[in-house]
Amino acid sequence: MEIVEKISEVREITAEMRRKGLKIALVPTMGYLHQGHLALVKQAKQEGTFVVMSIFVNPIQFGPNEDFSRYPRDLEHDAQLAREAGVDLIFHPAVEEMYPQKNRTTVQVSELGNALCGLSRPGHFNGVTTVVSKLFHIVQPDRAYFGQKDYQQYLIVRQMVRDLNFPIEVIPVPIVREADGLALSSRNVFLTPEQRQEAVVLSQSLIEAETLIRQGERSVARIEDKIREKITTQSSGIIDYVEVRSAENLEKSATINEPVLIALAVKFGTTRLIDNYVVEV
Ligand code: PAJ
Repeated sequence: MEIVEKISEVREITAEMRRKGLKIALVPTMGYLHQGHLALVKQAKQEGTFVVMSIFVNPIQFGPNEDFSRYPRDLEHDAQLAREAGVDLIFHPAVEEMYPQKNRTTVQVSELGNALCGLSRPGHFNGVTTVVSKLFHIVQPDRAYFGQKDYQQYLIVRQMVRDLNFPIEVIPVPIVREADGLALSSRNVFLTPEQRQEAVVLSQSLIEAETLIRQGERSVARIEDKIREKITTQSSGIIDYVEVRSAENLEKSATINEPVLIALAVKFGTTRLIDNYVVEV
C-alpha cells in the first residue's frame, strides 16, 4: 500500500491501474479510522478493484466555531488499519495541495442541504460537495462508498452525481455500531466516560421510535416528541434536532406513509453526535 500526497501521483497510479483493466473504488474519509470506515473498505474490496482511500480533514466543511483544528488525526495508525483492511492507495494531501489559491468555485446541491445538519452547520454541505467533486475528478473512481451514518451527506452526494453526470456509482453502507448501539464516530474520543455512557440513549431512542412505527404509530410529531423526551430525561445531551423525514428526499410531512429517515443530532458537552435509522413502512 502506498501513501501519496500529490494529486499528480494519484492520477498516475490510478491511470496505470485503469490501463491494467482494474476498476477503481474511492472511499473518502477524514481519517482517525474506525470500523465504520473499514466497513466501507470491505464493501469496496471486490475482485479486480483498486481501492483508493482519501484521508483529508477538509477545512471548508467546518464552520468558524467548529472543531477543524482539534479534529483527531493519526496517520500512522490509519495507515496500519487501512493496509490491514486491504486499501491499495492512500491519498493524504496537504490543505495547500487541495486549495492552493483562494478557491472561487464551490459545488452546491439545493434543497437537500437546507434541513437537518444543513441548518445547524451553514455551508457545511457545500464544503462536502466541493471536496467530494474534487476527489472524484482527481481519482476518477468507478464506484464511491459513503456511510449511512451521514445519511444526508449520502443523499446529497448521490444527487450531485446525478445532476452533474459523474460516471460514478455511489454506494451506501449501513451504520457500524458499538456493542451497546452507539454509532462509531471519530468524534466519540472526545466524550467523557459519563457522556459516553449517556450517549447510548441516542440509538435506544431511535430503536424505540422504530418499534412505535412498526406498531402502527404514524404521527411524525408524536414520534419526534417521544425521542426528545427520552433524550432529555435520560441524559445531559442538548438536542440540536430530532426529525422524521422522507428517506428518499428529506421532505417533511405530518404522517408517515413512505420509508422515513429518523435523524438526530445531540450535543454532549462540546461534542456533537449524529445518528439515524431508516424505517420502511
Ligand atoms: P468521515 O466522517 O471521516 O467519514 C468518512 C465516511 O465514513 C463517510 O462516508 C461516513 O458516513 C462513513 N462512516 C463514518 N462512521 C461510520 C459508521 N459508524 N458506520 C458506517 N459508516 C461510517 O464523512 C466524511 O468523513 C467527510 O464529510 C467526507 C465525505 C470525507 C468529505 O470530507
